[in-house]
Amino acid sequence: MKFTDSPVIDLQVLNSQLSFHQDNGSMHVGTSVWPCSLILVKFAERWHPQTCAVTPNPYSDILNFQNKRGIELGAGCGVAAMGLFLLGLNNVVITDIAPVMPALKHNLKKNKPVLSKSLKTAQLNWSNQDQIKSLNPPFDVVVATDVVYLEETVSPLLSAMEALVSENGVVLLGYQLRSPEAHKKFWELSGDMFDIEKVPHEHLHPEYAYEETDVYVFRKKKKL
Ligand SMILES: C[S@@+](CC[C@H](N)C(=O)[O-])C[C@H]1O[C@@H](n2cnc3c(N)ncnc32)[C@H](O)[C@@H]1O
Repeated sequence: MKFTDSPVIDLQVLNSQLSFHQDNGSMHVGTSVWPCSLILVKFAERWHPQTCAVTPNPYSDILNFQNKRGIELGAGCGVAAMGLFLLGLNNVVITDIAPVMPALKHNLKKNKPVLSKSLKTAQLNWSNQDQIKSLNPPFDVVVATDVVYLEETVSPLLSAMEALVSENGVVLLGYQLRSPEAHKKFWELSGDMFDIEKVPHEHLHPEYAYEETDVYVFRKKKKL
């Protein structure tokens, strides 16, 4: 799969087509669609328990979104949240910081005909505890793609994930190495907080398997 700088990115999810406007010239990374987000959605579509013919399906539990509540962190254009919504994730709240909200809201509106119900958006800066509380956690599924690129935001990001995900919930993470410092800190700290499962590359969607991009499943470590 090639990273594209086309102003419009289309994404087929089951029988629906999502379409996103991106602005690669803006000063905010959140106005672009990043490959991690497409890869995560197409992985979830490939193993979606309602359509996947493989038995046993190793992802049948985590990708069974029935009656689950979801939230996306650092959503940018909102690809992952809208894609997982089409795969059954309920009550999805799509979040990012204030400067990215116009691009997010624009893309949500653009896809309204495909998304029969409207999804909610909310401002969330990972270090803002009031904003975290106002979202009324916990969530069964926390989604984040390509959000590890600044060392100083690693701790707040992981704390926000921990505060938002339920005891038996999962964090679905689309990951690409962006900064060696952020990478080192993220993987050091995340291992203390979560049990981590890496999706084998061959389990990604064959047409959406960008070499440097991975999908991880985080679960809260059980308290002894
Ligand atoms: C590289 S973009 C990824 C956007 C989108 N998830 C995707 O994969 O296309 C990183 C996103 O993280 C968001 N972000 C960065 N720092 C943040 C913070 N402290 N709180 C909330 N969001 C943040 C940015 O605004 C941006 O939307």
